[in-house]
Amino acid sequence: MYLLNGERKHCIEFSDRGFQYGDGLFETIEIINGIPVFLDQHLQRLHKGCIKLRIPPPAIELLTDEANQLAQGSDKAVLKLIVTRGSGGRGYRQPDNIQTTRLFSLHPYPHYPEKLSKQGINARFCDTRLGLNPSLAGIKHMNRLEQVMARSEWSNTDIHEGIMMDINGHIIEGTMSNIFLVKDNCLYTPLIDQCGVDGILRNIIIALASENRIPLVEKVLTKADVFSADELFVTNSIVGIWSVKKIDTHSFIMSSVSENIKQLFSVFKQEAINVC
Ligand SMILES: Cc1ncc(COP(=O)(O)O)c(C=O)c1O
Repeated sequence: MYLLNGERKHCIEFSDRGFQYGDGLFETIEIINGIPVFLDQHLQRLHKGCIKLRIPPPAIELLTDEANQLAQGSDKAVLKLIVTRGSGGRGYRQPDNIQTTRLFSLHPYPHYPEKLSKQGINARFCDTRLGLNPSLAGIKHMNRLEQVMARSEWSNTDIHEGIMMDINGHIIEGTMSNIFLVKDNCLYTPLIDQCGVDGILRNIIIALASENRIPLVEKVLTKADVFSADELFVTNSIVGIWSVKKIDTHSFIMSSVSENIKQLFSVFKQEAINVC
């Protein structure tokens, strides 16, 4: 099911700048019982991204209505929202009058075996590095070639996520997730001021840690920090929190800090769903 600029169609003009240049933003939203989970947070991030890219932001009330309209009747699904600068302009130059394109599409929930959430995942380090660009860091823009290249590095279905470093060898995130380390009961997560996506779950976990007095530090992290960590987990809006049980040949345990965070997150998410 699709909604393109409010209409039930999905034919995008080939001249659309999203298609031509990746000139746009996207959000991937979990649907549970017809409710788009953490919709406000997703739309706020999109809004911030529009301001950064100087794309006129579509009204949040309009996007909320359309998201709810498409989500209605789906027990469990994934809703994708794309907003582009629309068509026009000459080459890279943007048109004087920007008519944004907004596309909602509804997709089946990906089938991830239950054991991944319960027992943890296997991960690997990717060779593909993230370039640095503070002006694009954090936003969920449509240029995702680095993630596509990184994800093409493996096809073994026993590996569930790849961890990416920037060109300086600093750990940044997973190909589709943010990353947290636990060491001596303290949480650590990489700074994402040079590259990386400012994840919805990342922000929720940072806030939950602060409210519950769980120490958390955002800092530059390296491979050595990963190998000396007690635990590791990755997060995104669709899978929630996945503990990492193994990265390459190095094994981790799942212990109280990540279990505590998972519990706090599960209560927080249920409350968010209940108020909708
Ligand atoms: C590259 C990247 N980093 C981080 C995330 C996690 O973001 P969120 O928690 O908003 O889903 C994603 C999600 O798709 C991603 O693609």
